Amino acid sequence: MSNSRTIKIFDTTLRDGEQSPGASMNLKEKMEIAQALIELGVNVIEAGFPIASPGDFESVREIANNFRGAEICGLARSNERDIDRAWEALKGSADPRIHVFLATSAIHREFKLKMSPDEIISRAVAGVVHAKNYCDNIEFSPEDAARTEPDFLCRVVEAVIDAGATTVNIPDTVGYATPEQMGACIKNLVDRVPNIDKAVISVHCHNDLGMAVANSLAGVQNGAGQIECTVNGIGERAGNASLEEVVMAVRTRSDFYDFDTTVNSKRLVPASRLVSTITGLEVQRNKAVVGRNAFAHEAGIHQDGMLKERTTYEIMRPEDVGFASTDLVLGKHSGRAALADRAKQLGFKLTGEQLQSVFEEFKKLADRKKEIFDGDIAALIEHEILGTIEEEWSLVSFDVDLKYQAAPRITLCLSKGGEEQTVEIAEGSGPVDAAFLAVKKITGVEMTCKEFHVRSTSLGYDAPGEITLETEHKGQIFRGRAVSTDSVEASIKAILNATNRILVANRVANNAS
Ligand code: KIV
Ligand code: ZN
Repeated sequence: MSNSRTIKIFDTTLRDGEQSPGASMNLKEKMEIAQALIELGVNVIEAGFPIASPGDFESVREIANNFRGAEICGLARSNERDIDRAWEALKGSADPRIHVFLATSAIHREFKLKMSPDEIISRAVAGVVHAKNYCDNIEFSPEDAARTEPDFLCRVVEAVIDAGATTVNIPDTVGYATPEQMGACIKNLVDRVPNIDKAVISVHCHNDLGMAVANSLAGVQNGAGQIECTVNGIGERAGNASLEEVVMAVRTRSDFYDFDTTVNSKRLVPASRLVSTITGLEVQRNKAVVGRNAFAHEAGIHQDGMLKERTTYEIMRPEDVGFASTDLVLGKHSGRAALADRAKQLGFKLTGEQLQSVFEEFKKLADRKKEIFDGDIAALIEHEILGTIEEEWSLVSFDVDLKYQAAPRITLCLSKGGEEQTVEIAEGSGPVDAAFLAVKKITGVEMTCKEFHVRSTSLGYDAPGEITLETEHKGQIFRGRAVSTDSVEASIKAILNATNRILVANRVANNAS
């Protein structure tokens, strides 16, 4: 089938994706992700919910001011304060979009909003009219649309289009719909709303029953022209429709779907890696398209078939989604040019300064590890360049004494603003526990460890270990991560990373109050 139309990809990794528990990101991290989204070629970047917090406001404003090549969108409830704040953040964009939402389903009307259907319509219209004072490009979302009575949904959609909405987004907010229902919901609007041709219909599906991608595609088959999705499918609860699955489904099955997107599929794996590193939300190994096993063939019969003819068992080519075609090995004698070339093939664009910094770390690693694989290089780049935050406390040195069935003894020296502080303790159930206690003793930052993961970045006993951890401080989750061939060093650095994030967040909160 020839692809007769191009649908828009509206990426909400920085807004709905950030609503995943523990996935909050700082400004620098959001800017890195926005850059990756531009390189992917998405059409709309929903950069945040400006009224939600000063941090959200600042990141929407910075993304609006600094990125070109995609529409930049900010979310607002259907009231003047939210919309004014959204516009304040968005006004520096060359192509701004205000996204206004209001729930419409009976359950939300009755229990959450306590508003009648007529009140909902007039509040929705008032929101769109107010937003229209600022810019032409207005999206309206009737929240929980998939559970809204079809007749009432038609009334809302007609009214907001009359008021000037240029996109009408139909969310399956709680991931309840089936593909047939989502398709029918869109068809109902196409058939019955008289002014529907004046707006683009969008779909926004959550994945509670694992049907977000299928529901989104069913929406487009029935007339939607935009899909809202996130990298790696992150988002509230079970997440949103996964961008990489949507893109590769329509591209791989172009014989079946009569639409395509403008996304550069070769950037999917780098974007996925970046989002996973920044959010700390690991991609499951068997995740479609970008999981580590997505192109691994284990059964002998499959391997035999693959050697004879790739298409016997492979419907997509790994290089088309951005997996490097060879796991070329670098080592001690590899130069800066080889590293730069490898980084480029892995999908990273490094500035001269970034390359220099990664090269220094690469040389240190090469002294400790004979062969350096793609996973090691990706980890170095992500951890040394992309994931760094302002470091209030840094590691100077440590000494750990471990004996079977005895409390570990740790001597830890940290530095802050050029001044060093050392503690020695002999408590804790193991070296990591002791490291937590020692860091707390020096920094005074209280935290409870909620999750602790160790992962090898590549092959071999000498492979660096990546530690990612989640800690709780005053009811909020903070992540920490670090990589080293020495697992105690990686643990201490990951604890410090979380500590520094807590200190940054506390400073932002104090400045805001
Ligand atoms: O899921 C949802 O309904 C949303 C809206 C704000 C679009 O995220
Ligand atoms: Zn949502």
